[in-house]
Amino acid sequence: MTNTTLLSSEFLLVEGGKRLKGKVKISGSKNASLPIMMATLLTKEPCTVRNVPKLLDVKNAIELLEITGVNVKFEDHILFAEAKELKSYIAPDHLVRRMRASILIAGPLLARLGKAVVGMPGGCSIGARLIDQHLKVFEKGGASINIRNGYLHMEVKKIKPVEHTFEVITVTGTENALMFLSRCDKRSILRNVALEPEVMDLVEVLRKMGVDIEVEGRTMVIKGNPELKGFEHTVIPDRIEAGTLAVAGFITGGDVILEGVRPEHMGSQLEKLREAGAVIEIIGLNKLRVIGKGKIYPLEISTSEYPGFPTDMQAQFMVLCCIADGVSQITENIFENRFQHVNELQRMGANIKLRGKTAVIIGRDKLSAAEVFSTDLRASASLVLAGLIAEGTTVVKEIHHLDRGYERLEEKLNSLGASIKRMVHARSII
Ligand code: EPU
Repeated sequence: MTNTTLLSSEFLLVEGGKRLKGKVKISGSKNASLPIMMATLLTKEPCTVRNVPKLLDVKNAIELLEITGVNVKFEDHILFAEAKELKSYIAPDHLVRRMRASILIAGPLLARLGKAVVGMPGGCSIGARLIDQHLKVFEKGGASINIRNGYLHMEVKKIKPVEHTFEVITVTGTENALMFLSRCDKRSILRNVALEPEVMDLVEVLRKMGVDIEVEGRTMVIKGNPELKGFEHTVIPDRIEAGTLAVAGFITGGDVILEGVRPEHMGSQLEKLREAGAVIEIIGLNKLRVIGKGKIYPLEISTSEYPGFPTDMQAQFMVLCCIADGVSQITENIFENRFQHVNELQRMGANIKLRGKTAVIIGRDKLSAAEVFSTDLRASASLVLAGLIAEGTTVVKEIHHLDRGYERLEEKLNSLGASIKRMVHARSII
């Protein structure tokens, strides 16, 4: 994989107006892979994780594991990790800045070594993204936490069982808490937990390692095990990549089959696609056919925690609303600043008005190509989708954001009939 400096100077040329047709295989989930990779720190035994996507964030996570002393091999989407002897408990600032999910290393390091020093994650472009809930669980479990020189210094002698009710539902907060408590052999109770499929994939891994976890509603009861075992696991398919490709198929009036998906993880997305006029067929357990008939109905969407409509699909559905026959409304309830794609979509002719955390989108017949800038991962995916339905050739810049979370999205779209070219050195060429 190329380095970040090079990727940041790459851009995409998206030729609009192609109807997508064909089959495409969905990759493993980024947001499930990252915590599972961190869970390998919890045991001395070897671990095998299959279906790991080849992404920048995964590369960053491997770097983090290696810094702490984990032996990692990553080939053909299979990750082998062995954390026999750890040599460091420090997650350096530059890596935490590159990937906020690096905070997921804190729980496992505390559980395994009783110590963790992690660069303090700042806010990011989509919002403040606090970690107070992660830290509350660590503190209740007996950890001392100090902030010095931009780093969180955390230490715990023996992890005590915890009873905690999360004040907000947090995905990585729940995952960090589970990993922190995984080696404590007394019963802990977490309430108001996140139940995203990615969290439940980690729960499955921890169970394989020997942790007893009961889930009832939004309550989890955890009884850890000081001697955790190695594991073999296949990561769940990426419901956000699948959703992105489903929207692409639908808005181009196409007919696409997504292979290797878990339709049951995509309930709220499929409901909205159907409401917008898509014909959706669930074929067997792992395939989904999405057909667009040309007519697109407007939508009302409100993002919320799983099983609600995912914030990670908000930007992509906004593109659909841009060409719907009527007025749509999208309310973003999870992150306070996740509308940065709006400016860029407006440059492509979209008629969108922002009213606080709600976007009102007045549909129009078409969008027109423009030079647009990615501001975050899902925003960049939405710009590629907009390019597919725009008149002319759209230039999508700053695609290192896209590469953080999609495994060559343009190749998958091209295999369905899109015409997208990846170009290098945007600034010197244009
Ligand atoms: N929050 C707090 N305190 C905390 C933790 C979170 O106030 O201690 C707030 C956040 O500021 C936010 C809300 O709670 O407003 C939800 O944040 P959450 O912690 O659930 O988000 P996250 O764990 O940082 C994960 C995904 C995101 C996804 C969100 C929401 C990973 C690695 N990241 O982030 O994925 O949007 O959950 O589902 O799992 C992406 O893939 O593009 C992405 C951003």
